[in-house]
Amino acid sequence: MWEQVQETVSFLKNKGITKPDYGIILGTGLGNLAEKIEADIVIPYNEIPNFPVSTVQGHSGELIFGSIGTKKVVAMRGRFHYYEGWTIQQTVFPVRVMKFLGVDNLIVSNASGGVNPDFKVGDIMIITDHINMMPDHPLHGKNDERFGPRFVDMHEPYSQKMIAKMEALAEKLAIKVHKGIYLALQGPTFETPAEYKMVKILGADAVGMSTVPEVIVAKHMGITCFGVSVITDLGVEGIVEAVSHEEVQEVAKKSEKIVGKLVEEFIKS
Ligand code: HPA
Repeated sequence: MWEQVQETVSFLKNKGITKPDYGIILGTGLGNLAEKIEADIVIPYNEIPNFPVSTVQGHSGELIFGSIGTKKVVAMRGRFHYYEGWTIQQTVFPVRVMKFLGVDNLIVSNASGGVNPDFKVGDIMIITDHINMMPDHPLHGKNDERFGPRFVDMHEPYSQKMIAKMEALAEKLAIKVHKGIYLALQGPTFETPAEYKMVKILGADAVGMSTVPEVIVAKHMGITCFGVSVITDLGVEGIVEAVSHEEVQEVAKKSEKIVGKLVEEFIKS
């Protein structure tokens, strides 16, 4: 993994990518956040050595390097999900690469199902913490100290400072945001009513199929993380309705302008 990461980093540096101030992972239907970036360099994943190539409809798959205001960002338009068949280590490979491009701050977005009865479809949730219920762990196996320590501190998976700044900014921009805990399951099935109930009993506010492995690996390498989730459907007892990938994308698309504005202003400030 070390050699592969270094090879990919060399390739990207040779393409002109320099130290970004922020890494950004754009999740389902949130890809249009990319339009906020004044792009200098755009590289499709299939041209990047060692990068997996995304297979899910709606995940276009390209790395974007450019500016938001005066800040440099590197953004993944499209991420790798465990349910696609990648190993868990493959799904987090780009985060390893980001670190060695110089990323110290990571912003991740996703779509999720809300289990908190206060949530509505289309709402935005700032992720305050997570519960890892993925069947595999990206740090399983021999630890490579060059990436980080064997036992990783997770007492602040999502930066309190960034959360407070984002909340203040949301208030200033009159954007309603919730805060809550994100639980990761492998998918690709959406949850049964009993599973949504389990998610709630376990203490989460929303459930999805991504983000947690990426944040674990980021924390392994000392990256500060911020996460935001669009609630695209509800798994609240009594009102669990049918959900499809298309609906998830549609709702995410409606909310992405707001999330985009929030992240753009955050980075600019
Ligand atoms: N469950 C899991 N993942 C999701 C959901 C959901 O309800 N909505 C969007 N991603």
